[in-house]
Amino acid sequence: MSIIGVVSMKGGVGKTSTCANLAAALGAQLGAGRVSTIDLDPQNALHWHFGLVDQDTTGVCEQSLTGGNWRNAMLQSAYQVACLPYGNVSEADREAFEGMLTQSPQWLASQIKAAGWGKEACVVVDTPPGPSVYLKQVFDCADLVLIVLLPDAGSYATIPDMEIWLEDMLAARPKLKVFYLLNQIDRSEALNRDTAAFLRRQLKPRMCPVDIHNDEAVAEALAFQQPVLSYEPHGQASHDFTRLA
Ligand SMILES: Nc1ncnc2c1ncn2[C@@H]1O[C@H](COP(=O)(O)OP(=O)(O)OP(=O)(O)O)[C@@H](O)[C@H]1O
Ligand SMILES: [Mg+2]
Repeated sequence: MSIIGVVSMKGGVGKTSTCANLAAALGAQLGAGRVSTIDLDPQNALHWHFGLVDQDTTGVCEQSLTGGNWRNAMLQSAYQVACLPYGNVSEADREAFEGMLTQSPQWLASQIKAAGWGKEACVVVDTPPGPSVYLKQVFDCADLVLIVLLPDAGSYATIPDMEIWLEDMLAARPKLKVFYLLNQIDRSEALNRDTAAFLRRQLKPRMCPVDIHNDEAVAEALAFQQPVLSYEPHGQASHDFTRLA
């Protein structure tokens, strides 16, 4: 079993897009039944990327509060990836779930185990931006964490906070693999190009060897509720996510 967490200190950098499209690229390479995604973000957006919007399901939040198995809320997509949504929940339920996660730091690990995905499974987990109970759960059980960054000053400004967080997490789990992933690279823009080069120099040992280019097909694919690999299989972003997988 491999657990991959997709995180960031800043919002809107492409975590959910990365989670969905990386999972679809992994699904294409590993075949049906191997890849699952879990939406640990109350924004509940991940299942949109797989065309699972009108499906009837409860999601991780409600399943956790009612003592159900997460597997019961799992939706099978047409893209060789299963998706476990966060679920549409009331504010009271969200708070109760977050309280539960605070009390049980290994809740995610135990639920993934209980879901019985097996040794060959690959689970990709989406998270909300910034420090949260969800982020803690992911750092507790992931094998690999991808920290998504945009090549801009806003993302750069979040690196000190992320490094402090990482120091704590890596002290507890020194073997955890962590990579910064640059998203929305646009080589035609000087500032974008220079910031990317600067970030790569600064974060060298932890830099993911693959960047994701800025490609309007990523946003278009979401509008068509499908992974970019299905929407534009030969586009730049599809190529990048295939390499990343
Ligand atoms: N490589 C890319 N090229 C072009 N557009 C992109 C790319 N990656 C993400 N986007 C667009 O950027 C926007 C934000 O992406 P996304 O929702 O994945 O970010 P997020 O980090 O999950 O946001 P949040 O912090 O709110 O959860 C979306 O409109 C998405 O389509
Ligand atoms: Mg998101």
